[in-house]
Amino acid sequence: MKLTWDDVTPKADFMNRRKLMQGALGLGAGLIGAGVAGRARAADLTPNSFEEITTYNNFYEFGWDKSDPAKYASALTIDPWSIEIDGMVDAPGSYSVADIEAMAPVEERIYRFRCVEAWSMVIPWQGVELGKILAKAGVQSGAKYVAFTSVLRPDEMPGQRGGSIDWPYVEGLRLDEAMHPLTLLATGLYGEAMPKQNGAPIRLVVPWKYGFKSAKSLVKITLTDEEPRTTWKDLAPREYGFYANVNPEVDHPRWSQATERPIGGGLLAGRQETLMFNGYDEVASLYTGMDLKANY
Ligand code: MTE
Repeated sequence: MKLTWDDVTPKADFMNRRKLMQGALGLGAGLIGAGVAGRARAADLTPNSFEEITTYNNFYEFGWDKSDPAKYASALTIDPWSIEIDGMVDAPGSYSVADIEAMAPVEERIYRFRCVEAWSMVIPWQGVELGKILAKAGVQSGAKYVAFTSVLRPDEMPGQRGGSIDWPYVEGLRLDEAMHPLTLLATGLYGEAMPKQNGAPIRLVVPWKYGFKSAKSLVKITLTDEEPRTTWKDLAPREYGFYANVNPEVDHPRWSQATERPIGGGLLAGRQETLMFNGYDEVASLYTGMDLKANY
């Protein structure tokens, strides 16, 4: 059992200490046993480097190692690309990435990104709000969920030629989550077109949920009235739920979710506290009255 500053210090002192530590870090002073408090919140929205964001990836279609996507994703052909919007919409159809970018403003969004494996990054995405695209497609009144399908290309994706995942990778959101202004269809990062290892040419980004919800290289978005199947819930339903909201109080059965390891933080940075909804409190009202332990 690991002690944290929370165990030994009242909250106000704890917050104060974190500020002091931030100062100490700024001066380059060493921290011994910094534990959880090593990185202060104020620094959290400094983006990770392009290098970090594009060489430490989960994209199992290209292998299980964090460095596999950067090695093998170049084989993926992304031009031409089309993404189908279908199901319970008034105007189903097939769209190019340029079509999607013409339907709503392309914005830069610097978001925290928290993986269920308890590491985190800060990523400067570009993209369009999914809600604006769905509104243009005309969501029908019976629709309750949105299903996302990633590309199926075993010829180009070595990970799809075997293994335990029933390809393609699929994910889903409740309709109100999909319509939330934070939910992005991302087409790039750091001002460049989306790198292949990060899910070119278009992917989902849902910053208050664990990273596995943010499906990459999307070919289909389907409006439906039933909760969609999701890849990780299919694989291990007791470990990965449909909701997957970042929640420091609901541990993964095999590890704690109370803290996270910021990628690129260096030895001095230590771990930082994980925030409810990854710090995006504005989504809390989507879950009023819901048991977030049962709906993990
Ligand atoms: N989407 C697809 N199609 N395949 C995947 O393996 N991995 C997920 C998610 N989307 C994954 C995916 C997981 S587990 C994470 S943490 C994020 O992508 C990683 O995104 P990043 O590599 O851009 O940081």
